[in-house]
Amino acid sequence: MKRQLQYSTPQPNRTFKPFCHPIPEPYSLGICARGWGHNRLSGWQTDSKSSIFPGREVLQLPLKIISFFFCFLFCLGALHADQEAYRSLDELGLQCGTDKASSLHNYTKIYSRYFAPLKDKPIKFLEIGIYQGASVKMWESYFKQATLHFIDISLKHVQYYSKRSRYHVLDQSKPRDLLKLIRKVGGDFDIIIDDGGHTMEQQITSFQHLFPHVKSGGMYIIEDLHTSYWENYGGGDHSHTTVAFLKNLIDDVNYVGATTSCASHANIPSEVVADMTLYRKEIESIHFYDSLAIIFKR
Ligand SMILES: C[S@@+](CC[C@H](N)C(=O)[O-])C[C@H]1O[C@@H](n2cnc3c(N)ncnc32)[C@H](O)[C@@H]1O
Repeated sequence: MKRQLQYSTPQPNRTFKPFCHPIPEPYSLGICARGWGHNRLSGWQTDSKSSIFPGREVLQLPLKIISFFFCFLFCLGALHADQEAYRSLDELGLQCGTDKASSLHNYTKIYSRYFAPLKDKPIKFLEIGIYQGASVKMWESYFKQATLHFIDISLKHVQYYSKRSRYHVLDQSKPRDLLKLIRKVGGDFDIIIDDGGHTMEQQITSFQHLFPHVKSGGMYIIEDLHTSYWENYGGGDHSHTTVAFLKNLIDDVNYVGATTSCASHANIPSEVVADMTLYRKEIESIHFYDSLAIIFKR
């Protein structure tokens, strides 16, 4: 009899021809043939009724149960690691007395996710706003290998004088002060957090002068963005708020895709390169949370 081979396109009446198949049939049927590995590749099909091994139909349910079980375990593990990371950072924040903890803003929940990969790395970190030094204590305990810098306009409220971190007295709304700081300590920050005075002018000026000194892959964070909605901080219903400024940056994030129909920055056409401002070039993404934004550098 002539060999009859059938290919993978669904066939209504599949027939099994034992002598046609290059793999011993029980093996082929039970392990490979039912749409897995060899049979898929070879394009041959066989009839499950002829198998002494359970076919795909029989194996499908236990396999599904097993893979679901492993997925469930994996998700549970990831969830547990997330919760544990949050719990330990938040506990630290509560002990140190910063309002970043769950006692008030609960930014620790967001930070525990973003900072976990950097926790034990020798990163360079800057925070605007020292006040009594609560967050200084927290970041020192959390980032054990980091070089830490803190800015405040005045040290009159400071209760924690650190030997490890460096305090810089300057006004975050003055470009000259910020440039002087960069000249003194250099740039290339992995993380910059603005938890200073929270007025529109302070937040925007600090971002404009410090974001260029975030390293590639690093992040610039602005806390307490709710002041954009408060008139006594310069916020309110107008277009000069920090939130409005950040909303405009969304257009810069999308600039290359919008002008070239290609989101990749790998080969930007020369006519577009000319229009690539610093923000269009360097802001990779902006993540918004209630009262907080994280701007990632490309
Ligand atoms: C919210 S507190 C910082 C709290 C601290 N990060 C913590 O979590 O414990 C804000 C600080 O920003 C400082 N500040 C206000 N205006 C500033 C300015 N123009 N430049 C620098 N720091 C300023 C204040 O002196 C105050 O100590």
